[in-house]
Amino acid sequence: MQTEQLLPDQMGLARAAILLAGGDVVAIPTETVYGLAGDARNGQAVARIYAAKGRPSFNPLIVHVPDLDAARPIAQITPEAEALAEAFWPGALTLVLPLRPDSGIASLVTAGLDTIAIRVPAHPVAQALLRLTGPLAAPSANASGRISPTSAAHVLDPDGGLDGRIAAILDAGPCAVGLESTILGWPGGRATLLRPGGIPAEAIAERLGRPLALHEADPTAPNAPGQLTSHYAPNATLRLDAVDPRGDETHVAFGQPGPFSLSETGDLAQAAARLFDTLRRADREGRPIAVAPIPDHGLGAAINDRLRRASAPRD
Ligand code: TXA
Ligand code: MG
Repeated sequence: MQTEQLLPDQMGLARAAILLAGGDVVAIPTETVYGLAGDARNGQAVARIYAAKGRPSFNPLIVHVPDLDAARPIAQITPEAEALAEAFWPGALTLVLPLRPDSGIASLVTAGLDTIAIRVPAHPVAQALLRLTGPLAAPSANASGRISPTSAAHVLDPDGGLDGRIAAILDAGPCAVGLESTILGWPGGRATLLRPGGIPAEAIAERLGRPLALHEADPTAPNAPGQLTSHYAPNATLRLDAVDPRGDETHVAFGQPGPFSLSETGDLAQAAARLFDTLRRADREGRPIAVAPIPDHGLGAAINDRLRRASAPRD
């Protein structure tokens, strides 16, 4: 299959919408990372997402809608969810909510769970597309277990990318946030951080007026989001909390300059936006990677989560 490269203009959006309506999968920009989108109501389209990514089918997908009202027929919006949606949508927050039995969402999207992960992306191109299509299931547009893509070049990367495996890509340049969305759910009734991400957990807790429960990571559980041990994996080995590089290591710096600096000034939002691209570039050096310590608050918690996964032992 030849992957069509589409501009994010009216023609490109219309072409993407036609492909999606026909059950094809299209890589789309969001403010967090590029997603691999398919019609969430079409089981065959959803099966194509899993196939293109080589993703284990027990790992459920996030459904994207243009606004809160479009989420209502799909998920039950509880009062706490309503408050968070008002505060953070559109944006980098995914809510795991009770699935409505008459949602029309293909069961492959939720992998048979009775909850659904739903999000309203802020990216103007994603917004415009969703208003042409309807709900789109979209995991990050990378092969399963690889680093998430924050540019069209990442999606099409000859080393482990999706070129030739997907119908098209809408190229809208680099993603502003650079980390996947924060995932929040209510297992056992308490607001629980399931995956740290682009909205700091502190901001969510502040909006709710109480601390979030933390998810017990179970690497084999079907509802452990993005939490397979070896995730976001570069080819090279990764050493964390490395103030200085050793031997021939490529040093990913923070708070100081360098060819692989995440942020010269120690800015966590800039570091998040650059993280995956920097890891990919460092990986191409073909040597072990050493990453400087990153403060563990705000977006730093999500950055450290991704770094721990990238450094986890592989099978
Ligand atoms: O920023 C993002 O969230 C990006 C963009 C494209 O929106 N998407 C993304 O999707 O990161 P993905 O599929 O790579 O990660 C979604 C995570 C998965 O790890 C999955 O386990 C979890 O969401 N998830 C989906 N449905 C769930 C559910 N019903 N209960 C618990 N976790 C769920
Ligand atoms: Mg992913």
